[in-house]
Amino acid sequence: MLDETTPASGAMEGGGAYNRHAKLQAGGAFFALPLFEAAAAQITLDGAHPVVIADYGSSQGKNSLAPIRAAIHTLRSRIGPGRAIIVYHTDLPVNDFRSLFGVVENDPETYSQNDPGVFPCAIGRSFYQAILPHEHVDLAWCSYAAQWISEMPRVPLDHIWHSCMTGAARDAIERQAAQDWEAFLTLRSRELRPGGRLVVAIPGGRDDDGSSGFERIMNLAYEVLADMVAEGAVTADERGRMALGVLARRRRDLLAPFQDGDTYCNLKVERCETCEHRDSAWSDYERDGNLEALVDKHAGFYRSTFVPTLAESLRLAHDEETRRKFSDRLEHGLRQRLTAAPEPMNSLVETIMFAKLGPG
Ligand SMILES: C[S@@+](CC[C@H](N)C(=O)[O-])C[C@H]1O[C@@H](n2cnc3c(N)ncnc32)[C@H](O)[C@@H]1O
Repeated sequence: MLDETTPASGAMEGGGAYNRHAKLQAGGAFFALPLFEAAAAQITLDGAHPVVIADYGSSQGKNSLAPIRAAIHTLRSRIGPGRAIIVYHTDLPVNDFRSLFGVVENDPETYSQNDPGVFPCAIGRSFYQAILPHEHVDLAWCSYAAQWISEMPRVPLDHIWHSCMTGAARDAIERQAAQDWEAFLTLRSRELRPGGRLVVAIPGGRDDDGSSGFERIMNLAYEVLADMVAEGAVTADERGRMALGVLARRRRDLLAPFQDGDTYCNLKVERCETCEHRDSAWSDYERDGNLEALVDKHAGFYRSTFVPTLAESLRLAHDEETRRKFSDRLEHGLRQRLTAAPEPMNSLVETIMFAKLGPG
């Protein structure tokens, strides 16, 4: 049974680790780039106020550089060099904002170096709350973040990953996710100016069983956790609390709030596409046969994205050394299994563009 303190998400691995290992997410977000460029070309740009871009769930910022750069490029062609552009990167308060500021300031691919009219800033607050003032945002981006739910339902969970769970646990997460998606859209709609746009990229779930392509690596991690219980590295109680508050959303889940009409909270769906996201790490492996590099990429992705949330359920979660040992042991077991039986990690990406219609 989960207690009240089990979080749905505990940020990504710090010290810039997420930035170094989140190639899969970068590849998925790439499918939404044309939508974000189209959004930048279409938003209403009345008045002379600074143009506001919001990046919801930015993590450590590396994967935000390309979309924000592309949007600024399009905006500059419309507004010229003089008008200010403010970029808000937002994430949970526990996010590694230090790495984010470093990347935004110094990365060779940053959007902020050659344009003195661009002003980046960051906010540490959940996107299941209001983050920015009413009708303040012109252009919003949210990539690989809105699959994290706001809280774990307090029911016994029989796996760490939603689509590997059964019965009541699975249903409870789906209910929470549906409620969260409506809350997310309602909040973002309030923050958008009329004529603004929101673009979302999110891992997709298959129509029939909701599977996402991550089931195999989740099952391997679950096996390693069982080994860790057997050897006393974690207790059965700790492992029983471990779960990831993530739901790969099916297209029909994403469109559910719009079922009763064209719009929801003054948002209209302008584009919605499902894309097959082939595992580029696997393509590299097919080309060069480098198994070690493949395992590095898969294990690095898993550790930097998911292990910190699992570690939140350790009794000594606040102790850095305990978290490090746990992460090292889990990664080690995963590497062994991934090396013994390598497989591709193909997944789906849903990309959506919303337009904010009237005020509200
Ligand atoms: C997989 S990362 C994606 C980061 C980046 N957008 C990308 O495309 O690589 C997911 C991010 O969502 C953030 N996140 C999860 N739940 C959140 C919430 N309720 N509010 C704000 N950010 C959240 C996590 O902290 C994490 O940084």
